[in-house]
Amino acid sequence: MPLEAGWLLRHSVVMCLLLHSLVLMTCCFHHAATSCSKDCYCSESEAGGKTVRCSNLRLTEVPGDLPNDTRRIYLDFNLLTAVPADAFAGLPHLATLDLSHNQLALLEPGAFRGLDASLRFLDISSNKLVHFDPEAFEGLRAQANLTNNPWHCDCKLQMALPTVKLEATSLTGIVCQTSDPEDIGIEGLAFLLAPQIDLCVIMKKTTDVAMLVTMFGWFSMVISYLVYYVRANQEDARRHLEYLKSLPQGSKPGKSEESSTISTVV
Ligand SMILES: *[C@@H]1O[C@H](CO)[C@@H](O)[C@H](O)[C@H]1NC(C)=O
Ligand SMILES: *[C@@H]1O[C@H](CO)[C@@H](O)[C@H](O)[C@H]1NC(C)=O
Repeated sequence: MPLEAGWLLRHSVVMCLLLHSLVLMTCCFHHAATSCSKDCYCSESEAGGKTVRCSNLRLTEVPGDLPNDTRRIYLDFNLLTAVPADAFAGLPHLATLDLSHNQLALLEPGAFRGLDASLRFLDISSNKLVHFDPEAFEGLRAQANLTNNPWHCDCKLQMALPTVKLEATSLTGIVCQTSDPEDIGIEGLAFLLAPQIDLCVIMKKTTDVAMLVTMFGWFSMVISYLVYYVRANQEDARRHLEYLKSLPQGSKPGKSEESSTISTVV
């Protein structure tokens, strides 16, 4: 009796292991069948649409194998440095894209191409974005979280903002860390919330001053050249005059002789 019990126990352990591996295998096959990006965790919501979670995986590139029926992607807390053009172009239903807490310093033109109709929320906060390139956001109407980036505020940024279609409140997330021109008191302020600062006018003023200085420089060069030219010519003219003065004294007798001969003829 105890022998049989031992046999049964041993077999049940083996059965258990077999069953376990079977479950694991079906899991894996299921995983492959529903096509989730490698290493990411995918789930299907009841409302339809897939959520892909790739957070905190030390990813350095946007995965290329994201399923085309993805609605939400979480790529936060990774090591992404750039979003190349068309990175999400094959995902026509993507509504939420979280790229926060990465090392993003570059969003290539067309980075979010193909998402203009579907994307509702874009999180690129807590990255290393310095220059705002409107071509990266072409057509996007999403609400974007742009906060916590080292934005550089200059005339280019000011010109770019009215051309983007992102939700207007999103743009208040652009807090200037540096600016051009420097030291105008906009550092640490949300660019849109400081409407009294017109970076393009300040730029224009400085270029105007530069123009004025160059023009003055040219003008003074021309003037000094003229002065030099006149002086040199004066010298020349005086010398020439003196020469002329010295000439008639030699020819005067001849002339008077001529005139005298004429007078004698008359
Ligand atoms: C996704 O791709 C599959 C096959 O590649 C295709 O049949 C399906 O229509 C695509 N779905 C969408 C939403 O584009
Ligand atoms: C934007 O991102 C910051 C930092 O990542 C976060 O603290 C903030 O709650 C986010 N704002 C919105 C509206 O989601």
